[in-house]
Amino acid sequence: GLPARVRVHEVGARDGLQNEKAVVPVEVKAEFIRRLAGAGLTTIEATSFVHPKWVPQLADAEQLFPAVAGLPVDLPVLVPNERGLDRALALGARRVAVFASATESFAKANLNRTVDEALAMFAPVVARAKEEDGAHVRGYLSMCFGDPWEGPVPVEQVVKVCRALLDMGCDELSLGDTIGVATPGHVGALLTALTGAGVPVDTLGVHFHDTYGQALSNTLTALRHGVTTVDASAGGLGGCPYAKSATGNLATEDLVWMLRGLGIDTGVDLGRLVATSVWMAAHLGRPSPSRTVRALSHQ
Ligand code: HMG
Ligand code: MG
Repeated sequence: GLPARVRVHEVGARDGLQNEKAVVPVEVKAEFIRRLAGAGLTTIEATSFVHPKWVPQLADAEQLFPAVAGLPVDLPVLVPNERGLDRALALGARRVAVFASATESFAKANLNRTVDEALAMFAPVVARAKEEDGAHVRGYLSMCFGDPWEGPVPVEQVVKVCRALLDMGCDELSLGDTIGVATPGHVGALLTALTGAGVPVDTLGVHFHDTYGQALSNTLTALRHGVTTVDASAGGLGGCPYAKSATGNLATEDLVWMLRGLGIDTGVDLGRLVATSVWMAAHLGRPSPSRTVRALSHQ
């Protein structure tokens, strides 16, 4: 069976813009988030409170977050450590996300830590966010399928880190196919292993990058396994500066087109969303890679 409703976790403003060569002016970012909210998205990942030298594209988090904080939507932000959490909480963030890795290579490249050192760095972040501030905590897990340095990632390795993130107190997990190499059989195998290990399926979201054009098939597989939270990026923006082969995320428009056809409600107004991505593409100076945006616009 398929779910009646899917929650789209929009990551364009964070995962999308963190990977742009040109720094997008803070007012354009704020307007992008406002337009995404206007298109009916209710969870809009806004930015990251990471080290500004590691991700200069998001170094304006202190300016951006207050500019959008009044919107009637959830605005999760990434925080790698207590310094990031302090910065986010000081601005009133109510939803934060830590971001772990299933592989040692990416933990080192992205966080300058081993997998276990990164988990140790997150533990006080999750504890403080939840206990002191009652914030909702998402735990991302990158490289759940394949890793550019290590190749295919064993399912047991992923299950182990998922377990650690849940035991730490994360409210939800997002399974990242950071470099977009997953295929539906692998997605099914991982979800079966996770639920078999006692991970409740309603704590799981999926986060597919579309490098090999598999993101929609992978998403449909995840829905058939009971997943109802899907990450996507307006216009298919995205990538990760610390994983060379990462390209854009599953485009939100492509996702909404498929779900609409399946009769699954998302609350998203596809016309307004396409218009938003066309507007953003004009700012970035190149057309959106989303097939649905191209089909429904004249860009
Ligand atoms: P480090 O160099 O090991 O940092 O980086 P450190 O802990 O040794 O601290 C060094 C200095 O940085 C200190 O300053 C800290 O205060 C400062 P000093 O005392 O020397 O003057 N510092 C900070 N400043 C501001 N904000 C902070 C912060 N933290 C430390 N939060 C660190 C470790 C984690 C900071 C670094 O590796 C980092 O920022 N990494 C972030 C990388 C990133 O954002 N990657 C993209 C997001 S993940 C992704 O895209 C994947 C995802 O989409 C899912 C998927 O697709 O798989 C989520
Ligand atoms: Mg990503």
